[in-house]
Amino acid sequence: RRHLIGLQDMPRERMEGLLHRAQHFAEGHDARDALAGVAVCTLFFEPSTRTRLSFQLAAQRLGADVLGFDASTSSTSKGETALDTLRTIEAMGVRGFIVRHKEDGAVAELAAHAAEGTSLLNAGDGRSAHPTQGLLDMLTLRQAKGADFSKLKVLIVGDVKHSRVARSDLHALRVLGAGEIRVCGPASLLPDDDTLRGCVVSHDFDAALEGADALMMLRLQRERMEDGLVNSLEDYHRDYGLTRSRVLRAAPGAVVMHPGPMNRGVEITDEVADGPESWVLRQVANGVAVRMAVLEDLLRR
Ligand code: CP
Repeated sequence: RRHLIGLQDMPRERMEGLLHRAQHFAEGHDARDALAGVAVCTLFFEPSTRTRLSFQLAAQRLGADVLGFDASTSSTSKGETALDTLRTIEAMGVRGFIVRHKEDGAVAELAAHAAEGTSLLNAGDGRSAHPTQGLLDMLTLRQAKGADFSKLKVLIVGDVKHSRVARSDLHALRVLGAGEIRVCGPASLLPDDDTLRGCVVSHDFDAALEGADALMMLRLQRERMEDGLVNSLEDYHRDYGLTRSRVLRAAPGAVVMHPGPMNRGVEITDEVADGPESWVLRQVANGVAVRMAVLEDLLRR
């Protein structure tokens, strides 16, 4: 339990314990001395707004010393490898590394070479995993719909193929026993491996919305996409964009979620993103609480 790489092997009891602790932090409690004297570094080789800043804030609220690392202004630009970068910062006495990288498996690979006593937390690797996003999405769902997921119909929509968020959400929803997991998107943006095992898969968004309790919209990840996977943004919006009239097809009280950053006017309209059903900013707030829980769990002596 030194690192947090993904959610697929996390026992339900541990996940529920982290969510319980995160809810405690979300209610305004703190633990100012939990990581006093512990140094952590946000080691980001890919851009981020929410994940990096909320991890930094979470670590500060636990009393840690926090270093920020930005690949674009570091010696990475002179050719230093990720592993040499990790070892260099480890040598300064840093014990916790929050790592984002564009390659699948990069964080696990770094963790395998980390010094004894160092913990790595995956802040998103390639298309593989974004475990703290998965946890904050589960915390948001619990706040909206209660802790019993067994009757919940959750619909994940859009670019699942390129989405580490979707993969972590799917693992977490399975661990927590979600009643029905629906996945909807164009065939070109749905994975054809076992990512979607046990899910109800559809290409018809309007039909998939019927009776859904939570609508988890995904960003169209054009930076990870080869040409031709979507015809045009207008076509994508027509077929898979969440509009007000589509929200009304879902179950009464359905919540709308999006991990951000949003492509407004593509996968979601302004009216929905900023509307009464939107829990998008609550997800951001929950990110701080979840990351406090995870950092405390892994780094507290
Ligand atoms: N959801 C998410 O990972 O956002 P950032 O890329 O801004 O961290």
